[in-house]
Amino acid sequence: MSAPAPLTETPAPAPAVRTRGLGKTFGAGDRAVAALRDIDLDITRGEFVTILGPSGCGKTTLLRILAGLADATAGEVSLFDDAGAGTGVGQATADGRISFVFQEPNLMPWRTVRRNVELPLEVRKVPAAQRRARATDLLDMVGLGQFHDAYPRELSGGMKQRVAIARALSYRPELLMMDEPFGALDAQTRDHMNAELQRIWMESGTTALLVTHHIPEAVFLADRVVVLTGRPGGIREIVDVDLPRPRPLSLLEDPDFVSRVARVRTLLGDR
Ligand SMILES: Nc1ncnc2c1ncn2[C@@H]1O[C@H](COP(=O)(O)OP(=O)(O)OP(=O)(O)O)[C@@H](O)[C@H]1O
Ligand SMILES: [Mg+2]
Repeated sequence: MSAPAPLTETPAPAPAVRTRGLGKTFGAGDRAVAALRDIDLDITRGEFVTILGPSGCGKTTLLRILAGLADATAGEVSLFDDAGAGTGVGQATADGRISFVFQEPNLMPWRTVRRNVELPLEVRKVPAAQRRARATDLLDMVGLGQFHDAYPRELSGGMKQRVAIARALSYRPELLMMDEPFGALDAQTRDHMNAELQRIWMESGTTALLVTHHIPEAVFLADRVVVLTGRPGGIREIVDVDLPRPRPLSLLEDPDFVSRVARVRTLLGDR
C-alpha cells in the first residue's frame, strides 16, 4: 500500500551555496593549470558538508572562490540565494556572512584568548560590553570557560583551534568554512575535536563546509561527503551519511559507519 499524498508540499530548504559548471584555470597558454572543472554543488542551509580529494585537486581553491577571495574562470556561484551574488563569471559576494578557519589557528599572540575571539566584533565596531558577553558565551561553548585571560602560548594545539572556531563564530556567520582545521593534531585530540565541532555546529545552527584529508573525520562530521577527482578536481561522487545525531565517538567502530568509510576510500582509490 502506498503512503497517502501529503496535503501540502514541503517547501525546498533554502540553499546556502549553489554552483553550476564552476571551473578554475590558473594562468594562460602553455602555463595554464586547470584546478577545478564543472562543479555543480548545492548546500542546504544548516547542512554539514565535507570535501575530500587528492592533494592539489583544488579543494582550497574551491573554498576561496566560495568565500569571494578568488574568482572562478567558468560557471556560476551564488550564496544564500542572493540575486546580487553570482553575477558575472563565478563571483561570490557575501558581505562577511562567511567565516574561515585554517589549518593554523593564526591567533594574535599578544592578545588574550578573549580578545582574540572579540577581534572580528571590534572590527565591526560592536560595543565593548556586547563583545565581551558574546566572547564569554562562545568560550563557554567551546569548553574554554577557564581560559578567557590566558595567552595563546599557554594553550595546546587543540585548545588554540577551539579559540579559532569561537572567533570564526563570533559574528554569527551563515557559512563556516574550514580548511583542514585539525590537520596538525594527534589522532586522539582530533577525534575529540570532531565530537566537539559536531556539538558546536549543532548549537550554532550554521552551515558548515569542511575540507579534510582524513576519511573517518569527513564521514563522522558530514551530512554529505563530496569526493573530488584528481586535478582538475571535479565531483567524483557525493556520499550521503544518513546516520543519526549527535553521533558519539563509539560510532567510529559501528559497521554502518565503517562501511561508509570503506565506500569513500574506494572512491578515492585508496586501496
Ligand atoms: N594562486 C595560484 N596560482 C597558480 N596556481 C595555483 C594557485 N593556487 C593554487 N594553484 C594550483 O591549483 C591547484 C589546486 O590547488 P589547491 O591549493 O586548491 O589544492 P588542494 O586540493 O587544496 O591541495 P592540498 O590538499 O594539498 O591542500 C594546484 O595545482 C595548485 O598548484
Ligand atoms: Mg588545500
